[in-house]
Amino acid sequence: MELITIRELYREKEKFIGKEITVGGWVRSIRDSKAFGFIVLHDGTYFETLQIVYHDTMENFAEVSKLNVGSALIIKGELVATPDAKQPFEIQAVSIEIEGASQADYPLQKKRHSLEFLRTISHLRPRTNTFQAVFRVRSLIAYAIHKYFQDRDFVYVHTPLITGSDAEGAGEMFQVTTLDLEKIPFTPEGKVDFKEDFFGKATNLTVSGQLNGETYAMAFRNIYTFGPTFRAENSNTTRHAAEFWMIEPEIAFADLKDDMALAEGMIKFVIRYVLENAPEEMKFFNEFVDKGLLERLTHVMNSDFGHVTYTEAIELLEKNNDKFEYKVSWGSDLQTEHERYLTEEIYKKPVFVTDYPKDIKAFYMKLNEDNKTVAAMDLLVPGIGEIIGGSQREDDYDKLTARMDELGLKKEDYDFYLDLRRYGSARHAGFGLGFERCVMYLTGMGNIRDVVPFPRTVNNCEL
Ligand code: 4AD
Repeated sequence: MELITIRELYREKEKFIGKEITVGGWVRSIRDSKAFGFIVLHDGTYFETLQIVYHDTMENFAEVSKLNVGSALIIKGELVATPDAKQPFEIQAVSIEIEGASQADYPLQKKRHSLEFLRTISHLRPRTNTFQAVFRVRSLIAYAIHKYFQDRDFVYVHTPLITGSDAEGAGEMFQVTTLDLEKIPFTPEGKVDFKEDFFGKATNLTVSGQLNGETYAMAFRNIYTFGPTFRAENSNTTRHAAEFWMIEPEIAFADLKDDMALAEGMIKFVIRYVLENAPEEMKFFNEFVDKGLLERLTHVMNSDFGHVTYTEAIELLEKNNDKFEYKVSWGSDLQTEHERYLTEEIYKKPVFVTDYPKDIKAFYMKLNEDNKTVAAMDLLVPGIGEIIGGSQREDDYDKLTARMDELGLKKEDYDFYLDLRRYGSARHAGFGLGFERCVMYLTGMGNIRDVVPFPRTVNNCEL
């Protein structure tokens, strides 16, 4: 069946005015008087809705008038210009076919529902304006990220989701097993015997594709990954999900400066892409979700990001320790409150914090000459805090293995990774962008649960 979309109608109005067309969609609202009625139809292809006028000359007039919000319809009729109305055109229906009537207890009504309520119906919330905007923009951001890297000849690498190593060394993994939990086999030492398991060893869902990505960077030079990532982090916050998507570029013959330039270029490119390609949705966010969003993003696109070392950042934060729940001093990890203070109060724009103490960062980061800090960077943005974490990698075999020993990591679990340092090691760097945090930043949505179609967080795995 050839259905014309509302998006096409807005794009090529002249082509369709005065013509008979067929459209399909869901009822947003419906009202009737004796001889005629109005339906506001939404078809999911565009932010705008379409008004349908229908008359009692239609044989199923009474049946249509009884329809509830949410019903799925196919409508044939003439598209007429309505220069004096709010909408530029409407359809004078000739026929209305009821594909599927909606029951009277349809949970979405014309009023504004709270985001909390909508979270309880994640299968229906994409039919609301807010989630139409969120998930269309999420889709565009994903495309823009691919475009940014593909335009620069980066190779997209699909890293595995099931792995045998902990890329971050933080132990926040979901175990993968086919063992019968009722009859777990144990070794004589009392440990679970994974030899009996599917892979013959302990495995888990990936926390990052970085280590695999590095191997491809040592073959293709510039690569990126874009895929699901899993963390069994017991953080019940508005920015943590157990399942999220991450983009991890890795660049060879490159240092931390190159890495930051790549990240800054990517963020600016994606902002521009979304402002140009989803103007209605972005206007909607600016009006209903986060006033000032458009001004802020435009400013970010046109100015340089800030740079500060961790040591300098701590000095700045220490002066304001009275404002924080967690007091900072050199060596402490930055909490969201500190990150937000730096980017919102001090810099008032995105800022890279670099050169963190080695003890609060992952084992693979390149040791600086001071032997205390590593060539790491986090990108902090107003409203969220950290959206990117990255570093130059330790490419020296001896230094890397020494660090692994210090941390008690088993070298045999990382054989492939250490090989890279044996066979033509080269300077390289990369970062991970949390996709959902990027979507939050670009839409102004305040909770990660509202930018993931079906969120997985602590105690929540519905649908
Ligand atoms: O800083 P992280 O842990 O870095 C890595 O995983 C590196 N392997 C990246 C690399 O250098 N290739 O995570 C990177 C980003 C964070 O900045 C954050 O945006 C996001 O991933 N992230 C999460 N997003 C949602 N929920 C969580 N639980 C997240 N944990 C990290």
